[in-house]
This record gives sequence, structure tokens and C-alpha cells, in this order.
Amino acid sequence: MSLLQLPGRIWHTASFAFMRHVMWAIRPPTYIVLLGGPGAGKGTLAAELAPALGLTHLSTGNLFRREIAQGTALGKVIEPIMNAGGLVPDEITLAVMAEELSRKRNWRGAVIDGFPRTDAQARLLDDLLTDWDQRVNFAFFLDGSKEDLEVRLSGRRMCSNRECNRTYHVVFSKPLKDGVCDKCSHPLIQRDDDKPEVVAQRIDKFNATNGPILTHYYRRRCLQRIKTTNKDPKGHVFRAVMEALGAD
Ligand code: AP5
Repeated sequence: MSLLQLPGRIWHTASFAFMRHVMWAIRPPTYIVLLGGPGAGKGTLAAELAPALGLTHLSTGNLFRREIAQGTALGKVIEPIMNAGGLVPDEITLAVMAEELSRKRNWRGAVIDGFPRTDAQARLLDDLLTDWDQRVNFAFFLDGSKEDLEVRLSGRRMCSNRECNRTYHVVFSKPLKDGVCDKCSHPLIQRDDDKPEVVAQRIDKFNATNGPILTHYYRRRCLQRIKTTNKDPKGHVFRAVMEALGAD
């Protein structure tokens, strides 16, 4: 029996906290994929999960928004697509992710948020990881209703500092001072693609592409569905995921 399979009550005592920590530190590389519609809470969860597990947080949305903020050639191509709620073409997304994943900081594993979103992206991720004798170990699908996601997106505010990217909500996750980031004191802004008409496009796009991705990970026996609602107690999704990982 592995230590992770120790009876729950012993494993969860405070005296085992140190051992749990050490086991995660010496674990083999772990790749965790977060799936879910716009506003499902992927970014919020990844921002908590990655430091808790000592993994990097890799978000295609954040990578693309950085390109736009820096006014790069790539940024100019993808800005209108993102602002209209469309998906960035696979050939661009695949090239960006392949380059990002191969960086040394991601060799110990990563929490991957917003990727894959198409079958081709799911296959590329499998191929890249297979080349390194790795695989997606866990895929968590954050499953929320359309109504709840719309409420989350309309109230979302983001730190304007691209190096920070912290996310807030005007009701569910308020900053200490109105309109100011708790972490770096930069002003908070609303994302261009959080306007109601763009949100509708994004949700439609998600519904049209999500099924095959869920099937992909279901077949690989690493898919877990986590229900999420706006009535859940704070930290509910994080705790559910940590428990599923055996890292709580
Ligand atoms: P991306 O940035 O990935 O956007 P998204 O997937 O639409 O997801 P969001 O960032 O909107 O939501 P989230 O699930 O992270 O929710 P969050 O934690 O912020 O992508 C943006 C665009 O880039 C795409 O539309 C596309 O154009 C392009 N793109 C990206 N990846 C691509 C790819 N692989 N291929 C092609 N194109 C790609 O939470 C939302 C709000 O809810 C926050 O205010 C938060 O405080 C609140 N909240 C979070 N959790 C809870 C909770 N449990 N209860 C209550 N409130 C909560």
C-alpha cells in the first residue's frame, strides 16, 4: 500500500501534513489539465493549485493577452479573434503551446488552463508529453450552468498588470479596496471579451467543441467532473480537486 492510500483518517491528521508535502515535492512530473466553459473558474483554481502543488500555471488565454498587450505581430492577428469570442486557429495555438511547454520551468509538470480546446490540440499535448515519457495525469472538468457562468463573467475584474493577472469578482471575490489589486496595487479592469454579446459567442463555441475533449480524456481514464455553482462555499472547487489528487 502506498502512503497516499493510507486510511483517510490517519493521512489527514496534522502530523502527516509534512509527509504529504514531501511526497508532492518528490513526485514524478505531473500534468493537470483544467477544462470548463468561460468563467468556469479555471484561472481562479489554477492560481491556487499551481503554487500549492509546486507546479507552473500555464494559460493560453494569459499568453495570448500578453501578446496583445505587447503589441506583437501575433497579438495583432489574434486580438480581433479573441474580441469576437472566437478560437485562435490551431496552427497558432499549437506553436505557442509547444514552445511554452518545452521551457525548462514546465519539465516538472504544469497546471494547464484553457488548453486543449480542440481535438488537434488534445492530440498535440499527448504527443509532446509522450516524447518526454509523460502524459496528462489528471483532467478536471469544472462543470457550471450557463446562467452561473454569465453572472461570473459579467462581474469579473482583472488586475491590469500583465505580470500579475489576478482575478476578482464584484460579488464573489472582492478586492480589499474597490478597483485596486490586493497583490500589486494596480487598477482592476474588465476584459474586452467579457461583454455580454461576446460572452454568448464564447459559450456557444465552448459547447460546440467541448464534447470530443471530454471523450478524449474519459478514454484515457483521467477525467474527473467537478460541479461548480455560485452557491458553493468559498474554496469548494480547490478542496474537491486537492482531495481527488490525494494532496489535501
Ligand atoms: P481564456 O482566458 O482561457 O478564457 P476562457 O476559457 O473563456 O475562460 P475565462 O478566463 O473566461 O474563465 P475561467 O474559467 O478562467 O474563469 P475565472 O477563474 O476567471 O481564453 C480567452 C480567449 O483566448 C478565448 O476566447 C480564445 O479566443 C483564446 N484562446 C485561449 N485558449 C485557446 C485555445 N486553447 N485555443 C484557441 N483559442 C484559445 O473565473 C471567472 C469569474 O468567476 C471570476 O470573476 C472569479 O472571481 C469568479 N469565480 C471563479 N470561481 C468561482 C466560484 N467557484 N464561485 C463563484 N465565482 C467564481
